[in-house]
Amino acid sequence: MEIELPTRRAMRRFGARLASLLREGDVVFLEGPLGAGKTFLVRAIARGLRVPEREPITSPTFTLVHEITSGRVAITHADLYRLDDPGELDALGLPEAITRSITIVEWGARFAEHLAPDGIVVTIGGRDAARGRHVTIASRGPRGVAIIDALRAPEAQ
Ligand SMILES: Nc1ncnc2c1ncn2[C@@H]1O[C@H](COP(=O)(O)OP(=O)(O)O)[C@@H](O)[C@H]1O
Ligand SMILES: [Mg+2]
Repeated sequence: MEIELPTRRAMRRFGARLASLLREGDVVFLEGPLGAGKTFLVRAIARGLRVPEREPITSPTFTLVHEITSGRVAITHADLYRLDDPGELDALGLPEAITRSITIVEWGARFAEHLAPDGIVVTIGGRDAARGRHVTIASRGPRGVAIIDALRAPEAQ
């Protein structure tokens, strides 16, 4: 699935829409170059899940994993840019965290097989702020297909 998000506002709306469809156990991989808007999208999803504005959502660049528990569902936010060895995923507690939260992983698609058989991969392209972002959403299994079908369906009133 391909969508154009011409503005930050459109990106926020997409995050809110995704938030309304995600549930515990779902895994969202976020790909795209530095400055693409991955963390921006995590923030939008988190706000959609009722994480209060006062809780900052930043990339867990050094700790690699943040647990966010102030929303209506627990969120695990990972940034695996610095991870080389998939053997370290267990030590980070990620496989276990996935079972009890909505997990959003920046720079993690290369570890997808090690983490979960299912979910979606959201690739954000285009860093030129004036031109917005081109977003590609791919499914990795039946649950991923269901999420994309729901995204395609007309928005519920
Ligand atoms: N649809 C959009 N159009 C224009 N700019 C956007 C859009 N979505 C996000 N941005 C901007 O892109 C920047 C991306 O930063 P960030 O989320 O930190 O990127 P990443 O985590 O991918 O490195 C944000 O500052 C945000 O203002
Ligand atoms: Mg980031």
